[in-house]
Amino acid sequence: MAVVVVMGAQWGDEGKGKFVDLLAAQAEVVVRATGGANAGHTVWANGQQYKLHQIPSGILYPGTLCLIGHGVVLDPAKLLQEMAYLRGKGVDLSNLRVSAGAHVVFPYHIRLDEAEEDRKGANKIGTTRRGIGPAYMDKFARVGIRLVDLLDRDEFLPKLAAQVEAKNQLLDKVYGMPGFTVEEIAEPYLEYAEQIRPFVANTVELVNDAIDAGTNVLFEGAQGHLLDIDFGTYPYVTASHPIAAGALIGAGVGPTRVNKVVGVVKAYTSRVGEGPFPTELMDATGEIIREKGHEYGTTTGRPRRIGWLDLVMVRFACRVSGITDLAVPHLDTLAKTGLKSLKVCVGYRLPDGTVSKEFPVGLKALAQVTPVYEEIENWEWSEALSKAQRLEELPVNAQRYVKLIEEYTGVPVSILGIGSERTEAIYRAAMFQA
Ligand code: IMP
Repeated sequence: MAVVVVMGAQWGDEGKGKFVDLLAAQAEVVVRATGGANAGHTVWANGQQYKLHQIPSGILYPGTLCLIGHGVVLDPAKLLQEMAYLRGKGVDLSNLRVSAGAHVVFPYHIRLDEAEEDRKGANKIGTTRRGIGPAYMDKFARVGIRLVDLLDRDEFLPKLAAQVEAKNQLLDKVYGMPGFTVEEIAEPYLEYAEQIRPFVANTVELVNDAIDAGTNVLFEGAQGHLLDIDFGTYPYVTASHPIAAGALIGAGVGPTRVNKVVGVVKAYTSRVGEGPFPTELMDATGEIIREKGHEYGTTTGRPRRIGWLDLVMVRFACRVSGITDLAVPHLDTLAKTGLKSLKVCVGYRLPDGTVSKEFPVGLKALAQVTPVYEEIENWEWSEALSKAQRLEELPVNAQRYVKLIEEYTGVPVSILGIGSERTEAIYRAAMFQA
């Protein structure tokens, strides 16, 4: 029985959905505690594809309690859309619970996100335009509206009126954009509240009770380490904490309760949005990996930027989040590219010629590093390999690739993804064991 956090160790889109889905099979409770509708988790189960944004992937298992914690910024319209989409696929939602402490995303957050991105022009962050940054800004400015407020008409309406007035001024005076009326937001949002009300619960009690009872609890991370507001490539980051600690804050669980932190590391690197990317491939090689890996954003459909695996970055994530186990998807994708050789970044050459394993602070310093690569010859892939059960069954160069990750980070690669289906994975250690 254990408490396991799954998080992205790169720039998000590492393929966390697959591992969360796999591990959720053994969990009684799955918690989503940070970010919002900016996240997109693709899960393949029973030959069907599911795209999830705010609802924990554990929802695909009947009987698994799925919690949305208060650290999430909740877009109620999108949540209801996602619920309808899942119901349409025959998924039972009776085990979904939402914290009343979650902050709510309003249309003015989305418009402000868009307006600020457009204002920045070439310097834009490349956000998902889901209103995430402005919603977290309101939270930290202590003017945010939470689900608990939305559920109480008398609390909600004056708070909304104050916010609409403030945001209209901002939209008009700073961005020259139209604002909103209180009514056009209040009416649909009060209706959303009624639809969400049956799912609202004290998620802090539920998750801590589950841990006290010794059940398996899984925290499903969103985004990834390099998008963390503190440890990511600021300002090209999201507005929350995708690191392991963020999941605990967002759920209301203490650090002493966690047994394992699983860092998901795609066998290469990808990122959506702007910002520096030392191992980026701007050539045909990047194009081939993008196509083979279907690297297009789940939320925005944007083509993802592609680069070689960067172990300097992964080591950084391991340190900050105390990652105990790595999960590496897409080993098969690399093989299927047909590329002759693969590169792995094992250091950053600094302007003075020295080689460092440290991830630098600041974009200027990051822009000045030159990746130092180790080269590994690519390996052949056959469909039969996707059924492998042990690392030793994979081609010797695939094994070398995995060993290199382990040696560099000092963290074992405990799970490998070798195909898109649930079953196409190799487990080298059990995650749910205290
Ligand atoms: P925001 O979270 O929409 O504010 O976007 C800030 C940055 O985080 C942008 O670079 C986005 O592309 C990136 N981002 C946000 N959510 C995800 C995600 O789930 N996967 C990958 N990148 C993300």
